[in-house]
Amino acid sequence: MRKILLMVAVAMLAALVMFAQDKGGKGGAKGGKGGPPKNLKVLTPENYMDNMRAFVPALGLADKGGCNFCHVADDRSADTKQEKVMARMMIQMVGDINSKFPDGKVHVTCFTCHRGSTEPSTAPPAAN
Ligand code: HEC
Ligand code: HEC
Repeated sequence: MRKILLMVAVAMLAALVMFAQDKGGKGGAKGGKGGPPKNLKVLTPENYMDNMRAFVPALGLADKGGCNFCHVADDRSADTKQEKVMARMMIQMVGDINSKFPDGKVHVTCFTCHRGSTEPSTAPPAAN
């Protein structure tokens, strides 16, 4: 439950940013065919879409297919793409990391590592 609350907090922050950029648009708010989500394993029906919207800028996906970086277009419940499977693992990892902070607040988000890239840097750029 605590993890879910943390994720909600992350999502709300991110959603604010997205709404500011998106003039409050609600594009893609519903699932592939508009029905309820069928294959959520870590997020909840209440918080998942704010997370989805946050992933796009956090990983810099605007030029990489946006939502379809992780999803096949016709069925977003499908776990076809390894990027989606990896993202689900990362959502759990971020929840675990945040749960270790003593103040119970969200300190680490996708953006903390990804910084608008799909490949976070492990080492600083060479100084020369
Ligand atoms: C970085 C990868 C990634 C991106 C980008 C992404 N998603 Fe997802 N999406 C996921 C994962 C992972 C899940 C499953 C979460 C879970 O298991 O709780 C999911 C689940 C969903 C579902 C629920 C499908 C079902 O029926 O179970 C919908 C709908 C969805 N995403 C829509 C979107 C939309 C719209 C966007 C773009 C705004 C988007 N996603 C961007 C990874 C991504
Ligand atoms: C602690 C740092 C860290 C955080 C936080 C993090 N990631 Fe990652 N992520 C990485 C690293 C490092 C890689 C590259 C792993 C590799 O090369 O195998 C990666 C790779 C990925 C990939 C695969 C990209 C590709 O090109 O296939 C996806 C998708 C992804 N992360 C999604 C997410 C999402 C969504 C979140 C937030 C819920 C997140 N990550 C948070 C470090 C992080």
